[in-house]
Amino acid sequence: MRIEPKASAMGATIHDIDLAQPLSDAQYREIEQALGKYGVISFPKQHLNAKQLRDFSETFGKLEINVANLYHDPEFPEVMILSNMLENGKPIGLSDAGQDWHTDMSYSKTIAFANVLHGIKIPMRDGQPLGNTEFCNMHAAYEDLPAALKEELDGMTITHDFNMFWEMMRREKGSSRPPLTEEQRRRKPPVSHPVFLTHPITGRKVLYANPGYSTRINELPEARSEEVLAFLFAHQTQDKYRYRHRWTEGDVLMWENMGTIHNAIPDYRPDEHRLIRRCQVMADRYFPDAF
Ligand code: SIN
Repeated sequence: MRIEPKASAMGATIHDIDLAQPLSDAQYREIEQALGKYGVISFPKQHLNAKQLRDFSETFGKLEINVANLYHDPEFPEVMILSNMLENGKPIGLSDAGQDWHTDMSYSKTIAFANVLHGIKIPMRDGQPLGNTEFCNMHAAYEDLPAALKEELDGMTITHDFNMFWEMMRREKGSSRPPLTEEQRRRKPPVSHPVFLTHPITGRKVLYANPGYSTRINELPEARSEEVLAFLFAHQTQDKYRYRHRWTEGDVLMWENMGTIHNAIPDYRPDEHRLIRRCQVMADRYFPDAF
């Protein structure tokens, strides 16, 4: 395989590999290292059915079955459908997944390692792809933090809550998703993780906070926690840390969730169809004992 780095804060394209075939150990290691180094990698021109996407994703760790239990492939519940398309008047997928800055599964006891998305239908307007996915580099965001803040937050933890993003989508973005049930809330209670993680691939520190799910720095008084979180959210989303993936049909886009945060841009209309299959890989290999 051939790795072509992007000329931006992160990202690379990997050519000359067929993800429908099982990975060799050497290919696995190369992809894992590329994820650590570039954060986001894309594999163009992939032809995968739901099972093949599941099998490729599963090579990297245990797969999450989304707690909302909506819109997954009928045969493979680990494969979720993200789409604004309707069939017989009914949505075939979750139409508003990830439409603000966040990190998947920071709200879980065992956090996420990677997301793997396969672009089946990508909306286009005037020759340009819509529904781009944007990323920010959390290795760089950590490194640039003021030394005094690094020292203050060292050893502290943040509470992450799945319901925070879910309710924000309902309240602020007009999402039609129903409120989480008591049972869903019980299965995903708020959890705490370190503010700074040592990244298991690079061995470097990353800022592990995100505007979608981070609610409170546990060891600080409430007012100071709010002030610091507001600073961290503004800091980590600066343009200088960004890479924007412009989708082409057939792309498999894979990113690791510890050294990045991401945002799905909803700039397409209901009649401009987008269809993506998604698997979420947990970091159970790297953190067998959750924090
Ligand atoms: C996600 O947050 O996993 C969805 C990203 C996208 O649809 O572009």
